[in-house]
Amino acid sequence: MQRIVWLAVYSMLFLLGCVALENRDRYIDFVKVSETTFLGVEELLDSLDVPWDMQYNSETNSIFFTEIKGTISELNLKTNKRTAIYTVPRVYQQRTLGLLALTVHPDFRHKPYLYTCYTVKEGEHIFSELLRLKYDKGMISETKVLLKIKGARAHNGSRMVFDKKNILYWATGDVASQTHAQDSTTLNGKILRMTDEGEVPQDNPIPGSYVYAWGFRNMQGITVTLNGNIITSEHGDAIEDELNWIRPLHNYGWKKIEGYHDLPEEIAYAQLHGTTEPIKAWTPVIAPAALHYPQSDIIPEWKNSLLLGTLKDQSLHVLRLNDEQTEVIAEKVYLKDVYGRIRAITSDNKGNIYIATSNRDWKKQVGFPLETDDRILKLTKIDFVPNKYLVENEIQTVDVNSGKSLYQAYCASCHKDDGAGQKGIFPPLRQTEWIKDEHKFVDVMLNGLSGKIKIDEIDYDQMMPSFSFLSNKEIAEIATYVRNNFGNNYAAIDSMQVETHRKHDKQK
Ligand code: HEC
Repeated sequence: MQRIVWLAVYSMLFLLGCVALENRDRYIDFVKVSETTFLGVEELLDSLDVPWDMQYNSETNSIFFTEIKGTISELNLKTNKRTAIYTVPRVYQQRTLGLLALTVHPDFRHKPYLYTCYTVKEGEHIFSELLRLKYDKGMISETKVLLKIKGARAHNGSRMVFDKKNILYWATGDVASQTHAQDSTTLNGKILRMTDEGEVPQDNPIPGSYVYAWGFRNMQGITVTLNGNIITSEHGDAIEDELNWIRPLHNYGWKKIEGYHDLPEEIAYAQLHGTTEPIKAWTPVIAPAALHYPQSDIIPEWKNSLLLGTLKDQSLHVLRLNDEQTEVIAEKVYLKDVYGRIRAITSDNKGNIYIATSNRDWKKQVGFPLETDDRILKLTKIDFVPNKYLVENEIQTVDVNSGKSLYQAYCASCHKDDGAGQKGIFPPLRQTEWIKDEHKFVDVMLNGLSGKIKIDEIDYDQMMPSFSFLSNKEIAEIATYVRNNFGNNYAAIDSMQVETHRKHDKQK
């Protein structure tokens, strides 16, 4: 009898052990947050095509997500099965254009609505539409376009979020225009505020207008903190990516001011127009995208923090906020270059975090896409200490005396580490007329370049930003590095040559 009891106990222990091991098997990686907190990373979905935005919905215990070409899917968190629930008609997909933001009505039980936005093309004109979709037993039963605004071939933003009073905010892009962002009467480069029916609320700061705040370039993230503050993330040009705390009628400066108000012209403009500074800015740029404030905090070290997914930096930034949620008081970086570009983040009511990669988008990075891209990964707090784990990454700094370091910080995201570029989009930096001719080279770096050019029989027709904010010495270091690498063998360029060029530019 006793023997049988012992046998039963042993079998139980053995089975429990197997279950525990099997559970551990499902993690593809572990992340160390502190001596006492470790996360397990699970792969929930693979082979996706640029999941652009996603949001957890407690009512259905599922995640709704968009893919850039036009599909909306539901990921059931009980079964981890994905179902495509709708294909948005007329989505115009090219480079950064396509099906973008998605958000879920906070009162889903009574108002089972999804909201999404995307680019469409009508004749020669591009627009962004905001669409409301009614969800009914795993399907979409009804759709309605709530708002249509101007679009363009670049800078269409955009993200959406509901506040705690069920008011919808749409963060839009400036459609690469010179004037929209500073013009409070147009709908681009703005935060637009509307009811869940797409109407202008009675209490909007400008009566009869959707416009709530302005002065933005290309909005890529928006979230609401615990106390209701709205925070956005935004792509800068060659410098100064921004994180902004959004308040009514505030002007955030673009395109008169980039990032912090630190240049004499910027300070002057700020004094005249009362513009608001970002709560954080990044130079060199990191290309911030998904911004998410988890409402439940199972990870004590990440309490009261924003989670920011980055594209260029290929990482997860954890930005700890002050108690008022108006300032960033600490920044930590995780997952650097592990999963590639991170574009979407959400979390469930237990505090598990979900991130989506964006390695099949228009901007290819070295080593990606992986065969399994794009993926949705789940980060869960685990109750054991793994043998091997990823640790916090150092925040990228630039060695201003090294041409290589400067090149990697400012040029490699487009022209790549080896100067090979990306066919048809970013030209190679190898024995071209611009590399050979020192004047042309310095000119491109100081003034940028646009318009059609041809290199090795291939057409390029994008925009290269200006890098005139770099010092003469930094420009000289980069130019010399490029002219001595990537199969080039040309004379060094020194600071004096850059200085002469700048003076000449000024006289023109
Ligand atoms: C955001 C992407 C981006 C970044 C960052 C960037 N470039 Fe470019 N660059 C371009 C594009 C796009 C073109 C082509 C413009 C056109 O089609 O007219 C270009 C063109 C050039 C050219 C002339 C064409 C050639 O291949 O010789 C040079 C030289 C150049 N870039 C150097 C640099 C250097 C040096 C840096 C870093 C300081 C840099 N670029 C950073 C996008 C970028």
